[in-house]
Amino acid sequence: MGLTTQSLASFLSATTSACPLGYSTTSKQPKLAAPSSPTSLNLVSTRVRCSLKDEQSRSSFLMDRRDMLVGLGGLYGATEGMLAANAAPLEPPDLDDKSACVRATENNIETKCPGTDLLNCCPDYRGNPVTVKNYDFPKTTLRVRKPAQKVANDPVYMNKYKMAVHKMKGLPDDHPWNYYQQAKVHCAFCNEAYHQENGVPLQVHNSWIFLPWHRYYLHFYERILGKLIDDETFALPYWNFDYGDGMTMPTIFLDTTSPIYNERRDMDHYPPAVVDYKYAYTDGDSGLEGDDLVHENLDYLRRTFKEGLPLPELFMGDRVRAGEEADATKSLGQLEAIHNALHFWVGPKESPHIDMGSFATAARDSIFFCLHSNVDRLWEIYRRRRNYCNEFNDKDWLESTFVFYDENKEVVKVQVKDSLNINNFCYTYEASPTPWLDALPKKKLKTKPKGQLVQVKEFGSGPRALDRVIQVVLTRPKKSRSKEEKKAMSEVLLIDGIEVTDSNEARFDVYVDALVGSDRAGPDKGNFVGSFVRLPEAVKAMKAKGKKGQFKLGLTGVLEENEIEDAEKILLTLVPRVGKVTIGGVSVLLFQNDVNCPYG
Ligand code: C2O
Repeated sequence: MGLTTQSLASFLSATTSACPLGYSTTSKQPKLAAPSSPTSLNLVSTRVRCSLKDEQSRSSFLMDRRDMLVGLGGLYGATEGMLAANAAPLEPPDLDDKSACVRATENNIETKCPGTDLLNCCPDYRGNPVTVKNYDFPKTTLRVRKPAQKVANDPVYMNKYKMAVHKMKGLPDDHPWNYYQQAKVHCAFCNEAYHQENGVPLQVHNSWIFLPWHRYYLHFYERILGKLIDDETFALPYWNFDYGDGMTMPTIFLDTTSPIYNERRDMDHYPPAVVDYKYAYTDGDSGLEGDDLVHENLDYLRRTFKEGLPLPELFMGDRVRAGEEADATKSLGQLEAIHNALHFWVGPKESPHIDMGSFATAARDSIFFCLHSNVDRLWEIYRRRRNYCNEFNDKDWLESTFVFYDENKEVVKVQVKDSLNINNFCYTYEASPTPWLDALPKKKLKTKPKGQLVQVKEFGSGPRALDRVIQVVLTRPKKSRSKEEKKAMSEVLLIDGIEVTDSNEARFDVYVDALVGSDRAGPDKGNFVGSFVRLPEAVKAMKAKGKKGQFKLGLTGVLEENEIEDAEKILLTLVPRVGKVTIGGVSVLLFQNDVNCPYG
């Protein structure tokens, strides 16, 4: 079913207002050194000691404003479940109820790896009852996460890193710090091991908690590694897949004798193979190699930021509240979609795509933490660009609560709002250039392929199988929008009623272009907008429950840059990449931007 006028109207009236007043001017964030070039960001703080003061003042500030925060946020995301008025933040599972955790699910691994126990992921929280403490953020020396391609040349660092992982692997199997126990934490919260009170699985992907949850996960993991080698400054490396020689599989993970090596990877993707942000188990689908592929990747990231800065749900993912499931009906953010493709790209080509190719097993490969370190860095760059405005001034996000084992072997609970100030954690990122953040040099357009013009129609009212490329005409809500109008509202493509009918993973890519005449498409796909990318377990959940997904992509920038803004109708091209997908409908809508957050 498409969006009803009523739900559209209710969305449009639900303004996501309010960057906390004055927050962007309070300079609670790391002092940023001057960028080394106009396009690079330096995220290294000049401070070496962290303190909790910033965090405390900030939290209480949010508390005071709680009345204002309640009920804000777009209603559209909540229409499937409950109204924002009686919604609540996600809660951690009841750790004393041993039945709250069950064997995880993952179709492929079960059927193709008989005898393995990869899906027994319930963490062994000790104590009866389990004592859950509020997490006390550390006051330690600043940890500086560096690019993997750089630490490769630092034998002292590499020895520490390898020693720490070696020790982690050597711990008793059931020790909460054990390497594989730590990997199971990811599995437990991604593969339906834990359920909420109403029986709906807890899922940390495909929604607005993706980035905060993984920030915490890495933080605790990093501190445990540091503790094992008695080094308070130990920091994970980051896979600098958005820059230069970082855009290949990091060599530090390729030494077969090293504890951070993993054999279940796609070895065709060893260097010099360049990462493909649009990878879907077949190489070369983008038809690009070398510099062209690098450029295409960076342009995808640039676009992700450009569309995501004014409308955070496009970057972060949809809202998910207590009792809701993040899997089926929520749209993932485009940073997460790119990250999903990198999971595909590292994991084995053949199914099952363990380890990295499946959330159930991904954290068994050390490269996982390196990938996520960069995803977290990109989030921090995004936050800085938004002057550290909250992405969502919504208590159901800010007070979403998670549990982890900390480096003192205690179970601690943490909230999204405390993850928003990176100072709390006492780590930072060594800078690496971010040329994609602003304009990229225009690539010379390839001459358009010669071919027939084809006639195209509207999508139609029934669902359509995406078993071949679909091209349809879409009518825009408004053409020739002024600068002010674009500032106030983002133009968004909504694809809904997405069903994955017969496959384990799924990906399709989306392109837009101008029509030729009123109803004709040229031989070219047009301009890339973004992708729907789902790893196997998300798909399984969708199939099992007969749930239909939805997916949103920002169009404002792509229409403007390609001079399509004045068109009343546009051409949409959907390209299936992997999996069998059916689509219910497509529409173009205007979404209210977060206008109170001055980004730039
Ligand atoms: Cu929890 Cu890269 O995923």
